[in-house]
Amino acid sequence: MKPHPSGRPRGIRGAAALGLAAAGALLVGLAATPSGAADAAGPVLRDLAQAQGKYYGTAVTASKLNGTYADIAGSQFNSITPGNEMKWESVEPSRGTYNWSGADAVVNFAQAHDMEVRGHTLVWHSQLPGWLTGGSWTADQLRTLMTDHITTEVGRYQGKITHWDVVNEPFNEDGTFRQSLWYTKLGPSYIADALRAARAADPDAKLYLNDYNTDGTGAKSDGMYNLVKSLKAQGVPIDGVGFQGHLILGQVPSTMKANLQRFADLGVDVAVTELDIRMTLPATDAELAQQKADYRAVTDACVAVSRCRGVTVWGFTDSDSWIPDVFDGQGAATPYDEGYRPKPAYYGIAESLGWTGDGGDPGDPDPDPTTGCTVGYTVTSQWNTGFTANVTVKNTGSSPVNGWQVAWAYPSGQRVTSGWNATVTQSGAQVTAANAPYNATIGAGGSVSFGFNGTWSGATPRPPRSPSTARPAPRAERPAVRLGGPDGTPPRRPGDRAWKSA
Ligand code: XIL
Repeated sequence: MKPHPSGRPRGIRGAAALGLAAAGALLVGLAATPSGAADAAGPVLRDLAQAQGKYYGTAVTASKLNGTYADIAGSQFNSITPGNEMKWESVEPSRGTYNWSGADAVVNFAQAHDMEVRGHTLVWHSQLPGWLTGGSWTADQLRTLMTDHITTEVGRYQGKITHWDVVNEPFNEDGTFRQSLWYTKLGPSYIADALRAARAADPDAKLYLNDYNTDGTGAKSDGMYNLVKSLKAQGVPIDGVGFQGHLILGQVPSTMKANLQRFADLGVDVAVTELDIRMTLPATDAELAQQKADYRAVTDACVAVSRCRGVTVWGFTDSDSWIPDVFDGQGAATPYDEGYRPKPAYYGIAESLGWTGDGGDPGDPDPDPTTGCTVGYTVTSQWNTGFTANVTVKNTGSSPVNGWQVAWAYPSGQRVTSGWNATVTQSGAQVTAANAPYNATIGAGGSVSFGFNGTWSGATPRPPRSPSTARPAPRAERPAVRLGGPDGTPPRRPGDRAWKSA
């Protein structure tokens, strides 16, 4: 079996080994790894993208930016888009009263993690406050409200936002202009006015128009194409076009690369701004394999077009995706599952970005499908002196496991204080969790979970990301677990498969 990364920050200290040892049947090895050594265990999307001259981004929910969610966002991605926090209803819920808390949180997070920010979004028909949609405005009043809003918001983050989605979703499916509040009152000139106001407020930000179902060629994409062409001809400040990429499994448009290229040929940058690929739930292995191919195809399209700046996924984890709320019975649309484990899609992205590692890809055939366990480790909460963790052992083999142990190390001083659903003991750095009498047997395809509380000290700084780029000290050092082979085989990470020794 192969190493398989989580999105855990690279270089976390206290790496540990989680191993299943032998209470009869299983051995899962976790070898302690020095800081940084675990980098070899798996791809880091932001580094791979950077090597291609691109970024890889994610939309986030500001209120979730802590714990594992923040770790993955900050370590795997180098661009961030607030999912909702910069929309009009969020920043100006009542007229003249601004709330920047969510937007600030995302920008601050980005700055602390060397990430670019995509500002999203200034002029849209949706998620507008009631005072704006319910008001009766003259065209002049509405135009001023729009440009003032842009001036205020873009001005607040001047110099901190790389790309702004200035106008979002201006088109109907047939390529005509959407009859939005803006269009019906102001006509198509609202788009040029919005772009000019944004340019004036931050001359360095790249200004984008953004839409969905424009990913491949077609009437709607033609509408965008003609608009951009005419804006360019008039000297309106337009720097890029965003293609949202809200796609259906197996339906990546075959014309996507050509479509991105024809926009690039107009003299603008392009980006995939809201990628997700939805499927009917529950997800099957075949669907997840198709999704891997789809994520790879979209990323390939961006890699192939030199003016494609990067790709942003609309949420990196299935636990933070808008899809199940909006598309009945659909979901599993992102590269990480709800437990923050990388899905085949994650490896599809990595492979597209040039990753050649052959480890840990759950989409690969299991070399020995009759044996094996996966071990997932999650810190479910942490505070300044303590933490709670959950470990799930899944039997991926085709025969039951009778008796199990999981072992790992906490070389940075974390101490387990109490456990449940397993007997968890610690000797020095070494922790061992053995099955409780009632959960010794794990049927084929079944899983068991156990948890524990522990203590830790917040003093250990995170090592630098790379020799040239120092990272800020993290809030806390996490009791990281690296899954590793029993005898010095490459280190693994949470979510990895474990070994079955006999
Ligand atoms: C979505 C958010 O993800 C949801 O949380 C919210 O309830 C609705 O909006 N196109 C866009 C995004 O440009 O702003 C939308 O985001 C998804 C579709």
